[in-house]
This record gives sequence, structure tokens and C-alpha cells, in this order.
Amino acid sequence: MTDTRITLLPPGAAPLDADALALAYSVADRSVPTLRVNFITSLDGSATVKGLSGGLGAPADKLVFDTLRRLSDVVLVGAGTVRSEGYGAMRLSDADVEWREAHGLAAQPAFALVSGRLDLEPTSDVFAKAPVRPLVLTSASAPAGARTALEHVADVISCGEAHVEPQRIVDTLVERGLTQILCEGGPSLFGTFIAADLVDELCLTVSPLLEGGAGIRISHGESDAARRMRLVHVLESDGLLLTRYARRR
Ligand SMILES: NC(=O)c1ccc[n+]([C@@H]2O[C@H](COP(=O)([O-])OP(=O)(O)OC[C@H]3O[C@@H](n4cnc5c(N)ncnc54)[C@H](OP(=O)(O)O)[C@@H]3O)[C@@H](O)[C@H]2O)c1
Repeated sequence: MTDTRITLLPPGAAPLDADALALAYSVADRSVPTLRVNFITSLDGSATVKGLSGGLGAPADKLVFDTLRRLSDVVLVGAGTVRSEGYGAMRLSDADVEWREAHGLAAQPAFALVSGRLDLEPTSDVFAKAPVRPLVLTSASAPAGARTALEHVADVISCGEAHVEPQRIVDTLVERGLTQILCEGGPSLFGTFIAADLVDELCLTVSPLLEGGAGIRISHGESDAARRMRLVHVLESDGLLLTRYARRR
């Protein structure tokens, strides 16, 4: 852990160390499937600055980002985020691996991508340097050539016939024992999960910044149902609010 201070509100409370942070984001029962989504937003509701989320971030957000990965069985990302944010191979730090193994978890979480078109480069680092063979979740109607190419470097799984069905994504992961699902976006994938009412938690970092432009929101979809959430905690670090919300069912 760096010297970044994260505290419970109100400001002035004692800073949380790595173990306390992990505890703050832990779940009561890991055998219960949980779809947790992690995003960062500006104060005026933008998910990006100049097209990327990086301009919103700060060290405390990175600590929480890493903590959520540390606690997950699988990190799930939409293909748009992989392409635009330039995801490389997901590899947790030695400290995270040590912590996971001490807590009975696999050394590294699985990494799963969602794509309908399979416009993904099999030679990219996401696949070539992955410590664990990635999963690609698609539909049976995905382009056959792209599917064959990706099958050399990943487990390609159909989660639906004509479309990738959100419930099938969750079921596929849970069937593999990956009950603690961390979705790192992006907005289209999040919108799909909201529409299907599959989101159990949102960990939302509010960055003390006004984007002021035409940045996208953290979700994008066709849901016309408002899903009520319950606040679990708010942490603070240098003006950044690190919130954890759970679905109120
Ligand atoms: N602020 C944040 O925390 C944060 C986090 C993540 C991303 N972002 C930003 O979000 C932007 C990307 O947005 P996005 O909406 O394109 O991201 P996305 O949801 O990661 O990607 C959309 C793509 O993912 C696949 N996909 C998602 N849901 C699907 C579904 N239900 N069925 C089939 N395929 C599905 C499709 O891939 P194919 O086209 O391959 O079929 C689709 O084009 C970037 O600017 C990124 O920086 C921000």
C-alpha cells in the first residue's frame, strides 16, 4: 500500500490499510454469486476525459480498483473497453497473489471478455501474455473465422444463439465456480446487466472534477426500469469519494 490515505467519512477518521480496505469490500458469503460493477465518474456524470477513464483516476481509486480485483474470481470486461482502454494481460501483483493464496483463492482471477462481433486480436497481449487462459463470451452467431482464431488463445463460449444473453454470461461463469464476478465496464455491458436486473453491487468512484464536455455516462442501454440501490459505505481520499452500493431487492 502506498502512503495514499483512504478514510471512512467523516474526514479525519483513521486511514484504512490494505486489509481493512479488503474487509470493506468483502462479501458475507463467497458461495453466493455476486455481480459487482466498478466505475469512475466525474462530478458532472462523465465516464471519460478525452475518451478514456484514466483522466478521472487518482491513487486511491487505483487502490480500490486493485482491491476489487484481489477479491474477485473473474474480471469481466466488454470488448469496447478492452479496445479503447488498450487492456493488456491482466496480472495481479505479487502482494495480491500472496494475499489471495493465503485466503484460499486462485493465484490470479480469470479474465473474461464479452464480444458479439469478436473483433479482437488473438496476438494481442490480452491473450498472448495472460497468466490464465482468458474466456471470450460470445453468441453462436459470432463470425466463425474470428471464433476459430480466438480458440487458439482463449476458451470461446456461446452465451446465447443470436445475441449474448446477460443471464447466460453470469450462469456460465458461476458454473465454472467463478461466483465473485467483477465487471470493469464498459457502459454498454453495464447497461445490458442493468436491463436484465443482474447487478448486485456498484462500486462507484466520484472524482472531484468537472468534465464539461460530451463524455459518455457510465451506463448505456435500453432499460426503462429504475433499479434502487442501497448505500453500503462511502470512503474518502483527497476529495475522491469511493462509494459502494448494493442492489435493494
Ligand atoms: N469510467 C469508467 O470507469 C469506465 C470503465 C470502462 C470503460 N469506460 C469507457 O467506456 C468507453 C467504452 O464504452 P463501450 O460501451 O463501448 O464499452 P463496453 O461495454 O466495454 O463495450 C461494448 C462492446 O462490448 C461488447 N458487448 C457489450 N455488451 C454486450 C452484449 N450484451 N452482447 C454482446 N456484446 C456486448 C460488444 O463488443 P463487439 O463490438 O466486439 O461485439 C460491444 O461493442 C470507453 O471510452 C472507455 O474508456 C469507462
